[in-house]
Amino acid sequence: MFSRNAFNTFKQASQNASKRFSTQAGSAKTYNTLMGVSVATAVGSGASLYYLNKNSAYANMEADGLHPADHPFPQKKLLGTFDHASIRRGFQVFKEVCAACHSMDLVYWRNLVDVAYTEEEVREMASEYQYTDGPDDTGDMFERPGKLTDPMPRPYANEEAARAANAGALPPDLSLITKARHGGVDYIYSLLTGYCEPPAGVEVREGLNYNPYFPGGAIAMAQNIFDGVVEFEDGTPNTASQIAKDVVTFLNWAAEPELDERKKIGVKALLLFSSLTAIALWIKRNRWHTMKARKIVFNSPKNWQKKN
Ligand code: HEC
Repeated sequence: MFSRNAFNTFKQASQNASKRFSTQAGSAKTYNTLMGVSVATAVGSGASLYYLNKNSAYANMEADGLHPADHPFPQKKLLGTFDHASIRRGFQVFKEVCAACHSMDLVYWRNLVDVAYTEEEVREMASEYQYTDGPDDTGDMFERPGKLTDPMPRPYANEEAARAANAGALPPDLSLITKARHGGVDYIYSLLTGYCEPPAGVEVREGLNYNPYFPGGAIAMAQNIFDGVVEFEDGTPNTASQIAKDVVTFLNWAAEPELDERKKIGVKALLLFSSLTAIALWIKRNRWHTMKARKIVFNSPKNWQKKN
């Protein structure tokens, strides 16, 4: 039974093979259908994974924090870039509000030049802070006004001092915070604007504040963004949501200062490589033309059958 089946399969296969050699039509059709089905499956499963990833809600909101809403920041769009007026306002918010507790060690004054401020403006801002430098000729450290090459000033001398001033909690360095948190800009915007009364039955420990977006719900940082907490020089309405949006844009720039340039290079690379691909395909078509268009005909010599 088995051998017979095997023989039939073999026969079928050889028939198929000879069919394929006589004409390509049948197998090409099957091949195309198979390719179509597999491409459709791949695209379909990719799309459903993307959809699930974008739209999934957490099963445990309390432990993981409330899922932040998707906010239309321009830099999130495929070809969108930073709103630089917003970065400028955001830095003002950081300087006047957040810098009281948070450091920003990876951002130097010079980084702000031509991004949100002119060089003179940055020099002037930096010189308002005192930095320890030295040693001088006598071996002593001395204080001098800040320069373009200095980093953002730190609010606390060390981690212990920071914890002591914040009921044991450490205000994290904000240089890379939009990259360091799940949900990025949306999470930080929601966190800053999401403070509310704890729901019935939820106890928040002394010194902590209720915020549904913070994993666990109780955060050591108190609400510090309110309507009118900063005064914008360009006359932008200083509502809490505007202030939060601007500081989040600034934090996003600090974490990804290369974003604008990266997208510009991306567009150039796509244009360049797609035209190179088109040229390569065209050349290949020319080179392969003789091979692809030829037809091999075998004329058996006379008495061929007899000789073999
Ligand atoms: C009075 C001090 C203080 C000020 C002012 C302050 N923060 Fe905080 N911040 C903290 C502390 C303390 C924590 C740590 C909270 C914790 O771990 O419970 C924190 C944590 C954070 C976190 C991290 C939350 C997380 O998911 O871990 C972000 C983001 C943040 N602050 C942003 C800001 C921004 C933006 C501002 C300015 C608008 C600001 N903070 C102003 C004290 C402050």
